[in-house]
Amino acid sequence: MNTSLQAAAALRALNTLALPASATWLARIDDVRQLAALRADPRLAGRPRFILGGGSNIVLAGDFDGLMLQVALTGRACVAEDTDAWYVRAGAGESWHDFVQWTLAQGWPGLENLSLIPGTVGAAPIQNIGAYGLEVAERFHSLRAIDLVDGQERSFAASDCRFGYRDSVFKQEGWHRDGRFLIVDVTFRLPKRWQPVTRYADVANELAARDIAAPTARDIADAVIAIRRRKLPDPATLPNTGSFFQNPLVDGAVAAALHTAHPALPQYPQADGRVKLAAGWLIEQAGWKGKDLGPAGMYEQQALVLVNRGGATGSDVCALAAAVQADVAARFGVTLVPEPIYLGMA
Ligand code: EPU
Repeated sequence: MNTSLQAAAALRALNTLALPASATWLARIDDVRQLAALRADPRLAGRPRFILGGGSNIVLAGDFDGLMLQVALTGRACVAEDTDAWYVRAGAGESWHDFVQWTLAQGWPGLENLSLIPGTVGAAPIQNIGAYGLEVAERFHSLRAIDLVDGQERSFAASDCRFGYRDSVFKQEGWHRDGRFLIVDVTFRLPKRWQPVTRYADVANELAARDIAAPTARDIADAVIAIRRRKLPDPATLPNTGSFFQNPLVDGAVAAALHTAHPALPQYPQADGRVKLAAGWLIEQAGWKGKDLGPAGMYEQQALVLVNRGGATGSDVCALAAAVQADVAARFGVTLVPEPIYLGMA
């Protein structure tokens, strides 16, 4: 089987921040049978591995000295149906947004709030993508992955994934970094008794502005797409990775003190007693909204989004991120944690 292994591969077109870097080896996987040959290849033995989806959640700080596996596994189908739900499966390499729009066109609602999120189906569970009042964990049924250590297939049910805010077992165990599991496909459970999720203020306001009182799933998708287009830059024209930092989770006492000092800081109490803070607000107040450091900057419409204004390198991005973190820490005592994975650090 042709593994299409490429040496000294350029990665600029494979990451949405458009950072220039290379991988010592790159393999495009469109058939899981290619993996056996790669595991047996002596040139790759003991090399670091990384599994690449749409490249929309990585920072290539430098070149990657190892094997990068670009997942291009496709296919999508309703694999089961019972009285309560449709079970819809998609290959890990499918575009997330295209998959969501396809489910809606088939008449299977449930993923509409997650329209226009960049990246692939296989990457969605790793950081439990979420937006506009919904996280993928709420619609996840199971996934199948190949353990690249022993070559065996393994299934993960929702409980095995230990989902949290922008978190899963794949991150908790470091498997997203060491390339332990290559996700082959993901199955979603889409309940037939569909309920619109419109609690997020932006969505409710957009629907009101459109005079829609009883939205369909398609209406919600259209509203979310419109909001995202207004607030978030299109990576095709202004390279970015979406939110660059996670919204920080702090203890209740810390949140209360911050509220006293900064009553306007948006706070979202969590079920576990912690409080999520709006990182975009903190960054804006620290003076970084629309501000550049060299060829990279924080986006003028959404301060949480780091953009490559043209020609930025991994070092430029690292320098800007560190400067924003330092200013937010100095001003608010809050540590910002990057959402994307850094690769190729010296
Ligand atoms: N805000 C500011 N200034 C800014 C940006 C935001 O003051 O420059 C304030 C807003 O006014 C609002 C609050 O911060 O009160 C939250 O802003 P927004 O609704 O834009 O959402 P977010 O918390 O910044 C999160 C996700 C996004 C997701 C949106 C909508 C994270 C890290 N980000 O952003 O996800 O689309 O909510 O649900 O959780 C992504 O992860 O890549 C991403 C885009």
